[in-house]
Amino acid sequence: MRAARADLCPAGNGSRKLGLVPTMGALHAGHISLVRACRERCDATVVSIFVNPTQFGPNEDLSKYPRTFDEDCGLLRGEDVDLLFAPPVDEIYPAVGLGSYVDVPSLADRLDGHSRLGHFRGVATVVTKLFHIVSPDVAFFGQKDAAQVAVLRAMVRDLDFALEIEVCPIVREDDGLAMSSRNRYLSNTERMEARALYASLCRVMSSAERGMTDASALRKVWHGYLATAPGVRVDYAEIVDPQTLLPLSDVCDGGLVAVAAWVGGTRLIDNIVLPRRPVAEGER
Ligand code: PAJ
Repeated sequence: MRAARADLCPAGNGSRKLGLVPTMGALHAGHISLVRACRERCDATVVSIFVNPTQFGPNEDLSKYPRTFDEDCGLLRGEDVDLLFAPPVDEIYPAVGLGSYVDVPSLADRLDGHSRLGHFRGVATVVTKLFHIVSPDVAFFGQKDAAQVAVLRAMVRDLDFALEIEVCPIVREDDGLAMSSRNRYLSNTERMEARALYASLCRVMSSAERGMTDASALRKVWHGYLATAPGVRVDYAEIVDPQTLLPLSDVCDGGLVAVAAWVGGTRLIDNIVLPRRPVAEGER
């Protein structure tokens, strides 16, 4: 891979930018939007596909996580990607085991980190390894995983990684469901039920737009809606600061509205970002 970096962005041509799009495969239009953003911004695009065992808990879906490598290659072939890096597990985690991990303790147990213990340590570790192996100038991530973005931004800042993180908007199905590799687990009924996640986020957005800025009032409206959504079991539904992931008491300065919920046996996540509220004439 280091040789590949030299080929794709030769030394002495410091203006050439190498972009990396890390994925776990089972690619969909959300992933492809990152690839396109990368191609637009960078001179060379590397996509990685690696289902990372260390970010899955013992009772999670590592073994059944969709692996669709041939289809993924077909999709990427149409996107003019310069290099696909799809290492086997023992290339990233040699059998002797891993003695070092990358942790971001200040965020490790917030949102998904709270219900998926060790998840962000696994993400931070594999992303660090990918950064070292590929040496990108820019790495592309989706807003869909807003807590992951907060963790990786903190990691890059705290550990002085010489790269930039670019975050791309959430790509949704026509009915609003955020695209996810895990959507393919859903039965037809569950697929319909899953629409409630985005619908509930829209409800929070419209309440905020109508002037409700008290976060506990917004949570009440939101949790009430989710509690009556058939087939949906909430894991968390929080209104937090997008950087610290700590709960907010009001959303005057904006906020991240993030939900994780089980629909049948499938855990889905989604979020929206409330913009900072414009200050009215009389409030100045
Ligand atoms: P994965 O779930 O495959 O997602 C790869 C990237 O695609 C992530 O940055 C994710 O936020 C983005 N993505 C997924 N669905 C999206 C959507 N609907 N719209 C926009 N972007 C979307 O996230 C991971 O893999 C892993 O944790 C990884 C970072 C690769 C580390 O193993």
